Formats: sequence, structure tokens, C-alpha cells
Amino acid sequence: MDHFQIRDGVLHAEDVPLTQIAEAVGTPVYVYSRATLERHARVYREGLSALDNPHIAFAVKSNPNLAVLRVLANMRYGADVVSGGELTRALAAGMKAEDIVFSGVGKTHDELQQGLECSIGQFNIESEEEGYELAAIARRFGKTAACALRVNPDVDARTHEKISTGKRENKFGVPIDRAVEIYASLAGEDGLDMRGVAVHIGSQLADLEPLETAFGKVGQLIADLRARGCKVTHADLGGGLGVPYKSGEEYPSPAAYGEMVARVSAGWDVRLMFEPGRVIAGNAGVLLTRVVRVKRGIERPFVVVDAAMNDLARPAMYGAWHDFEAVEPTGQRMTAHIVGPICETGDTFAMDRECDALIAGELAVFRTAGAYGATMASSYNSRGFVAEVLVDGDRFATVADRIAAGAIMDAERVPEWLD
Ligand code: LLP
Repeated sequence: MDHFQIRDGVLHAEDVPLTQIAEAVGTPVYVYSRATLERHARVYREGLSALDNPHIAFAVKSNPNLAVLRVLANMRYGADVVSGGELTRALAAGMKAEDIVFSGVGKTHDELQQGLECSIGQFNIESEEEGYELAAIARRFGKTAACALRVNPDVDARTHEKISTGKRENKFGVPIDRAVEIYASLAGEDGLDMRGVAVHIGSQLADLEPLETAFGKVGQLIADLRARGCKVTHADLGGGLGVPYKSGEEYPSPAAYGEMVARVSAGWDVRLMFEPGRVIAGNAGVLLTRVVRVKRGIERPFVVVDAAMNDLARPAMYGAWHDFEAVEPTGQRMTAHIVGPICETGDTFAMDRECDALIAGELAVFRTAGAYGATMASSYNSRGFVAEVLVDGDRFATVADRIAAGAIMDAERVPEWLD
């Protein structure tokens, strides 16, 4: 459930009409709802209520806006980060260092060092090479890094291939059949406190079965590690829960997920950790856009909006569906191609979409844009970076300024030797 509803004929974010935000901030603009973020954070935590003190770390990559992170920090969420930049943001937003988990296959030397200097809660090590490097840095600093070994369980998450991470050919984690050997070897390194295992098989998962299969393998691995004499006190089960992008779609609830986790992990005797992103932020945001013009097509009109693939990359990148709705629907419908202004055919949000009838100048939204939206933006076609707004009841604030194309150009130089 989200707090983007039609009231008096106008789509509102909580108590604010989106027309008012467009007027004040311009378009395109991402609009987030605090109440929705908080509701999702609460429902997710409640779904895990059968577990003993689960650790929940919001996947910062899904929405790294400082204000969004602050909302979640206030909800006692930690952070799952994948770069030094995300780590800096999580700390700036008020997330506690001990609640931060650092994932990713390509953490650089500097990033490992940054994590150690900040005394983050856990490194999710993705290879033996990374483990030895981290151990050496930790020894140099006289520190001990708490670590989980990320394993690749070779499970098909049955989601889009570009966001599947748990098949053996994927770059993530160590092959599960080598995990005991690698874990035992890293556990012998001074500087590392090998304390757990981690798994994440993919994102936007539509059913729980692949997760259950992966978690079953993790349970077996924990038993094998203990049989080998290794200490295991933590298991990080990642993120991945999918959300409905089309109205009417059903996805597994956090409660069903939590019930499955409680059943599969019974007897593991570890602290469970989670890294949800999309399920918290996805439906807590929309991309508000204005129709530039409606262009006659051969079979269908093209609705050309002022948002483009550089602002919301998911349709171009994954063929993803985002519901598209008028902010002031009249009840009239049309079937159209929804496109942005960028000079490639990939800048298409939808083909043959049945949607609210729209004319030039009217406002519309792409829904479910709160996760993997603004964060994946680029400045392609010398378009600026889109602004972001957070709504809270009847008030709203710009939580990321629009970065104009000119400001991006200001960072560029033409060397004098070109003259
Ligand atoms: N943990 C790890 C290690 C991850 O790689 C991810 C997402 C998450 C947690 C959070 O997953 P979530 O709960 O959000 O499914 N850009 C793509 C999604 C990429 C997901 C990458 N990893 C999209 O727009 O669909």
C-alpha cells in the first residue's frame, strides 16, 4: 500500500497535490512519500517478528538520497553499502557504523580501508583474494574486520538476467562448494573475524521458492562449517523481495517471506541479517513528468514526456514496466507509445500502452520509481540530473536539487593547448 492517491480529481502524495510540486520544483522530479517509506519499513520488520533480533540494513543502492536514508535511520535501519560513496552517505544520514554492511565484488583497497577506519559492522567478502587483502590492511591498522563470506549458491532466481546474482556463472560470491575451504582459510588470518555467511541471489523476485532453495543451501553450509570447527554466528540473507509494478499484481508479502525464513532457519542459531532495498523504497516514489507534446504516429500517437531514459533507466535497460497515470485524470483513455525526448529508440517507456488520455502540458507519473530511479540517472544528451522531493503529510521539501546541464559542463575543461 502506498500514499499516492487521487483526491478531488488530483493525484496526491500524502496530502500534497502533485500539481503543487510540479509548480514549485518543475518537472521531471522524483517525489517520495515519507509515510510510505515508514510503512514499508515497519511492515518488513513485522514480517520478521518471529526471528530473534534480526539485523535489517537498507540497500542504499536502491535509493541513496540522504533524506530517504534519514527516514530509515530513524526507523532503526542499518545500511547495506557497495561503495565508499554509499558508506559516506549512510554515515552522513545518521546510520550507525556498527549497523553498516559493506558488500560488492570490487571493493578497492581505499574502500576496504575506509570501511575499517569507520569501524563498520561487517564486510561481506566476495572472494578469497579480497579476504587476504582486507586482512593485510586490518593488520596494518591494528584492527579486526568482522566478516561474512558471500557464497554463490548456484540457484536460478527466475528474475531478469541482468539482476540475477546467484547462478554459478555470475560474478558474485564464492562457489558454495568451495566455501568451507575458503572460510576456514580466512578464519586463520589475523585481522579477520570470520563470523558468518552471506547470500543474495537477485532482485525483484516474484516467488519465494528460489530463496528457500538458496537458504536451505546456506543452512547446510553453516552445519558443514561448524563440523569443520569454524565459528558461525551470523547469516546475511540479502534482499531481493519483488514488488508489484503493475496495479493488481501480487507479490510475496514480507510476512510470507518472514514465515519462510523462520521455518528454513530454525536451529541455525545465528543472528539473521537482511538487505532489503526495492521492497522498502520502490512504491514509495513516483517520477512526475509533464507531457511535452502528443505527436501523431502511424498507428498510435506518441506521448512525448519531459522525463527520459537518463532520468529513469529501468524501461530502457531491463524492458521494465512502470504504470503511467495522469495526475488529473478525466476518465478518458487512450492507447499510445510513451516516449522521452532522447535521441534513441531505447528512450521508450512503453509501447501500445492503454493509459489515461493526455494532452500537451498535462502532468503524469511513472509509478514505483522510488527504487533504482534517481540513483541510476545519467546526464545523457546533456540533460541535467533530476530533482527529488520528499513529502510528509501536507508539507514537502526538495531533498535533491536539480543539477542543471550547465553545472555539469562547469566541471569540464578545454585545455589551452587545444587553442
Ligand atoms: N543486497 C545485495 C548484495 C544486492 O546486490 C542487492 C541489489 C540488494 C541487497 C537489494 O536488493 P533488492 O531488495 O532491492 O531487490 N537496478 C536493478 C536492480 C539491481 C539490484 C542490485 N542488487 C533494477 O532497477 O531492477
